Amino acid sequence: MTRGRFITFEGGEGAGKSTQLKRLVARLEAQGREVVATREPGGSPGAESIRDLVLNGAADRWSPVTETLLMYAARRDHVERVIRPSLARGAWVVCDRFADSTRAYQGAAGGTDPRLIAALETYILEEVRPDLTLIFDFPPEIGLHRATARPGAEMRFESKGMAFHERLREGFLAVAKAEPERCVVIDADGEIEAVEAAVWAAVQARLPILPDHGHG
Ligand code: TMP
Repeated sequence: MTRGRFITFEGGEGAGKSTQLKRLVARLEAQGREVVATREPGGSPGAESIRDLVLNGAADRWSPVTETLLMYAARRDHVERVIRPSLARGAWVVCDRFADSTRAYQGAAGGTDPRLIAALETYILEEVRPDLTLIFDFPPEIGLHRATARPGAEMRFESKGMAFHERLREGFLAVAKAEPERCVVIDADGEIEAVEAAVWAAVQARLPILPDHGHG
């Protein structure tokens, strides 16, 4: 059984990632693949409990370093129980946020030492790394407005202020620049269909075992 492929969606708030993730999952399923759609923080029962702790409450409820450790506690459970076994049985895993969100939110924007984050990647993720990461780039002033208008929004990060969200955007773009073989920046400031086409083009170009037909 060949290992599946691991695709992550990254970016700031309100860039339309979740809508695009659903569309990509539908396209991959239409090719007859088993696809596991998941998210972080969360994706397993234990990690979803940690999500509730980390995303709700006052903006200063946790320091950036504590957040980093909570994110990695959740991530380890998700990797052990969902991501690694799914890839091993040949499923494709499509995850709404993963390790780059910690680099950008807790690292670039929050100020956590990048050496701590790099060490956690090494020891907690082990061999589990995305084959492809799509970084949704979007103006934070529009994204934040969209994200906070959502019913039931989990507000801790949305409430951190515009300077934080500017650093976040730069942090994600820095990840893309540092690892161009893994990352593709998607201009998310366009019509849903245009963004969907850009996502599909990136997936076909970077994971060329896909047949070149389907939804066109
Ligand atoms: P979501 O709004 O895309 O569901 O993401 C949940 C929030 O969690 C979002 O504000 C980003 C934040 N987050 C981090 O700060 N660090 C992480 O490692 C992850 C996965 C998410």
